Amino acid sequence: MTLLDFVRLTRAHLLSLVFLTLVGGAVAYGLTLRMPEVYLADASGYVRVAGSGTSTGDSLAANSLGGSKADSYLPLVTSRAVAERAIAATGIDASPAEVAGRVGASVAANSVILKVTATGPTPEESRVLADAVIKATAEEANAIETAADPSAKPIVSIVPIESALPGGKIAPNPKRSGLIGLVVGLGVAYALVFVRRQLDTRLRTVGDVEELTAASVLGVVPQTKELGVVRGRGRVGQLGIATEAFRQIRTNLRFVGVDDPARSIVVTSANAGEGKSTVAATLARVLGASGQSVVIIDADLRRPTLAKVFDVVGTVGLSHVLTGQVPVEDVLLETDEPNVRLVTSGRTPPNPSELLGSVRMHELVARLTEDHVVILDAPPLLPVTDAGVLAGFCDGTLLVFAVGRTHKEQARLAARMMSQVGGRVLGVVLNLAPQRKVGGVVYGGYGYSSYSSDYASRKAYDTAPVAESDVVEPVVPAGPGVPVPVAKPASKVRRTAARKAD
Ligand SMILES: Nc1ncnc2c1ncn2[C@@H]1O[C@H](COP(=O)(O)OP(=O)(O)O)[C@@H](O)[C@H]1O
Ligand SMILES: [Mg+2]
Repeated sequence: MTLLDFVRLTRAHLLSLVFLTLVGGAVAYGLTLRMPEVYLADASGYVRVAGSGTSTGDSLAANSLGGSKADSYLPLVTSRAVAERAIAATGIDASPAEVAGRVGASVAANSVILKVTATGPTPEESRVLADAVIKATAEEANAIETAADPSAKPIVSIVPIESALPGGKIAPNPKRSGLIGLVVGLGVAYALVFVRRQLDTRLRTVGDVEELTAASVLGVVPQTKELGVVRGRGRVGQLGIATEAFRQIRTNLRFVGVDDPARSIVVTSANAGEGKSTVAATLARVLGASGQSVVIIDADLRRPTLAKVFDVVGTVGLSHVLTGQVPVEDVLLETDEPNVRLVTSGRTPPNPSELLGSVRMHELVARLTEDHVVILDAPPLLPVTDAGVLAGFCDGTLLVFAVGRTHKEQARLAARMMSQVGGRVLGVVLNLAPQRKVGGVVYGGYGYSSYSSDYASRKAYDTAPVAESDVVEPVVPAGPGVPVPVAKPASKVRRTAARKAD
């Protein structure tokens, strides 16, 4: 994962990240408030060595011995014997192990001062315990030093040098715990986001598509209610916020193979329901509206839908032409888009793949492409071979994948099948992008570029008729790695204006 990926992931999941971070902070803060209070007091003792002489050398030697003795007494402070003495002296209601756990000790380097700390539930108890522990340590040390001869005066002793002050509060510290909670919450949030991303098998972004299929995304079509209707679906001027996406697909198609523009285009997808017919029909209309003569063929002989989409009655169609029952001229139906003619599927035959791979089909496409751009709405690639058969002899294929529905593996498989049949993939259309996440689909969480939003608000576009030469869509040559800017769903773009612009 690159830094850029990380930034994108963060932007895509900003809300969840912030939410979980705050929850972490709040939980830690809340839990800390319920924790018992802890106070800490300290007391010190001077480790004295009885010197035999009064010379400077003697006192230096005594001091040095005292320092090393102080170090060696350290374990004594937290010993069971000292704890028992301290409990006997103070009457604290705790076991020796508990008391030993509440006590700590330290000696600064080369120092003869032994410092003891003790914690307790009240300032007073911590103070009493610290005092008791230093005294108990002194007694215990004396006992050890005089173990051989109890009547002898100890050479080394610990003299408590100051009595402890009431302890200061060290816990709970809700602010610090809250901060730690925030950090932990953030860590957990990122972990969840990463795991979710790793487990997510569905196609979500333009980057996913380019990585899996090595094809470029020609456009991202949002999910709209206009494209959800059955009859008249995809009429130019009634595309709402999907208008821009289709302009873009049209424009980007021009950039794919400028020297050898595709005249016959198969539209297919991995599975049923990803929007092949919708994209095929709308693209045909958009191309027709821009002045090209288009024939759209319902080559999905198994589940034909284009007669309904174009709202025409077409009982005689492709299957009749392919079986030689009628000439093609008889099945070219006029549609509501003057430049677009439709060949419906005709009666569903028992052997669609065979018909679509027949010489008659080759000849039909070859003949129609002399005067028209031919768009073929094909069945999906994974369940049946029809689309592969068509792709084998048509100029190019558009793959339609549905954002958040098509599995990554299916997209990869579809692209592999296309290369196996020698089909040329012109590009991918990402369909059914959730409207508010189109930016995330395009940029993997980057939102809209300022360029696109600027474009979406152009006044001139709204009002004046725009010549075809004034290409209004952001013209971005499609190519791997080149993200296709998708215009912000432009509510300001009036449908009439959109129509004129075409
Ligand atoms: N961008 C879109 N927004 C809203 N509905 C859509 C969109 N694309 C497709 N649909 C709907 O999804 C369903 C399946 O689309 P269709 O084009 O028939 O898929 P396919 O031909 O791949 O089986 C249709 O009801 C269609 O209206
Ligand atoms: Mg279909």
